[in-house]
Amino acid sequence: MKPPPSSSPSSSSSAALLRKGRLSPYIFTLLAFILFVTILYGEDFSCIFGSQFDTYRPYQSLSSSSIAKKKGEKLPFAVGEAAERDGCDLFSGRWVWDDDRPLYEESECPYIQPQLTCQEHGRPDTDYQHWRWQPHGCSLPSFNATLMMESLRDKRMMFVGDSLNRGQFVSMVCLVHKIIPDQAKSMITNGSLTVFRAKDYNATIEFYWAPFLLESNSDDAIVHRISDRLVRKGSIIKHGKHWKGVDIMVFNTYLWWMTGLKFKILQGRFEDEDKDIVEVPTEEAYRMAMKSMLRWVKRNMDLSKTRVFFTSMSPSHAKSVDWGGDAEGNCYNETSMIQDKNYWGSDSRKNVMSVIGEVFRKSKVPITFLNITQLSSYRKDAHTSIYKKQWSPLTPEQLANPRSYADCVHWCLPGLQDTWNELLFAKLFYP
Ligand SMILES: *[C@@H]1O[C@H](CO)[C@@H](O)[C@H](O)[C@H]1NC(C)=O
Ligand SMILES: *[C@@H]1O[C@H](CO)[C@@H](O)[C@H](O)[C@H]1NC(C)=O
Ligand SMILES: *[C@@H]1O[C@H](CO)[C@@H](O)[C@H](O)[C@H]1NC(C)=O
Ligand SMILES: *[C@@H]1O[C@H](CO)[C@@H](O)[C@H](O)[C@H]1NC(C)=O
Ligand SMILES: *[C@@H]1O[C@H](CO)[C@@H](O)[C@H](O)[C@H]1NC(C)=O
Repeated sequence: MKPPPSSSPSSSSSAALLRKGRLSPYIFTLLAFILFVTILYGEDFSCIFGSQFDTYRPYQSLSSSSIAKKKGEKLPFAVGEAAERDGCDLFSGRWVWDDDRPLYEESECPYIQPQLTCQEHGRPDTDYQHWRWQPHGCSLPSFNATLMMESLRDKRMMFVGDSLNRGQFVSMVCLVHKIIPDQAKSMITNGSLTVFRAKDYNATIEFYWAPFLLESNSDDAIVHRISDRLVRKGSIIKHGKHWKGVDIMVFNTYLWWMTGLKFKILQGRFEDEDKDIVEVPTEEAYRMAMKSMLRWVKRNMDLSKTRVFFTSMSPSHAKSVDWGGDAEGNCYNETSMIQDKNYWGSDSRKNVMSVIGEVFRKSKVPITFLNITQLSSYRKDAHTSIYKKQWSPLTPEQLANPRSYADCVHWCLPGLQDTWNELLFAKLFYP
């Protein structure tokens, strides 16, 4: 964050005075005052003096052990500390078979949209439901629906982003809904907003469709299949006004930016006759969105009472050649995961991951980063593939060649995205 312009010249001239050793009592008092204010408002002023005043909680995540907290200070919602916090990166681990999975049955959760109900659409295997994520060096706490709902009493949790975040939202609803009686819960969609309400808890878990977070020409929650995508600069308020008052926020954005190496940004308004459009490298467009998101969080959320998460890129498996398969193949008919620990698919852009890392590292906004890209990239077996409701009837050519219409982006539920929520659960309650 930029320092307020008025204070930086004075601080640099004071520093110059200090160096020359001409420190008058007046300047000393001024410096002491600035120091006091700096400690009080560490976030806004720390950049003036450099990083030695990082008393404010930094964002946590890049390595999970980097959660610097003042002694005795508790993050909102925390109930305990991770047993082996130091040195245990929850996102580095392996998948282990677990007979007690899945955590719920597809048929028991009525909220899964037909694009994700793989069994109902004829998927013959179920192994993909049985894997549990085992971090190296520690274990994930068991997901506790009662704890989740008790913590959401009189509160709102919201997922904002694209259809992958919608999948994580539905997974969260499926993980908790069993403890709520039928007449005390509802799920209603109105435009961009879908709200799951648990009446007795006065709690909601919500999803808001904003695939770029900023205003775009793909914002219609139903009709948004637009190939010539356009995002308006500095427009997060357009959607952000619907996010105010949320207690637990989970953002994502990635896939919709991936149309090529460049991306079109609208500088004026969508209503303008002559549109002022610039094309920038996709990473720069993405960086702009990330910064807007952080600025929105900083201005609109009380971070002493709320928590904010950002879920990293969800990998897709559209090219078998990535994992040594045949040239035509994709996730279709894949029932086992990738064993190569270093596997990284060509669809997950490393440059975008670097942008995320840089933007978060430079910011003092305490966002918790859910780095699910690597652990999900092993899971070529977990996509919906052809086992989902189709938008339009399949042609004979498609039916003859199922891989031509396999969905290698979205994930079956129950399945991989339940793990994303177990990680969210761990970071929320045992940071
Ligand atoms: C789940 O959380 C609730 C509320 O905090 C607690 O009472 C209960 O013991 C927990 N259940 C398990 C199995 O840990
Ligand atoms: C219900 O929750 C909302 C926040 O989502 C809060 O503003 C309101 O006060 C709560 N109502 C009651 C009766 O506690
Ligand atoms: C849907 O949302 C719009 C505005 O966001 C509101 O005016 C309308 O009343 C809502 N409809 C229902 C059925 O809640
Ligand atoms: C699916 O994979 C199996 C081997 O894993 C293979 O025997 C079978 O022919 C494949 N089916 C199709 C339709 O590609
Ligand atoms: C996320 O995890 C991957 C793989 O472990 C790593 O390469 C990447 O740098 C991480 N991203 C960030 C922003 O820390």
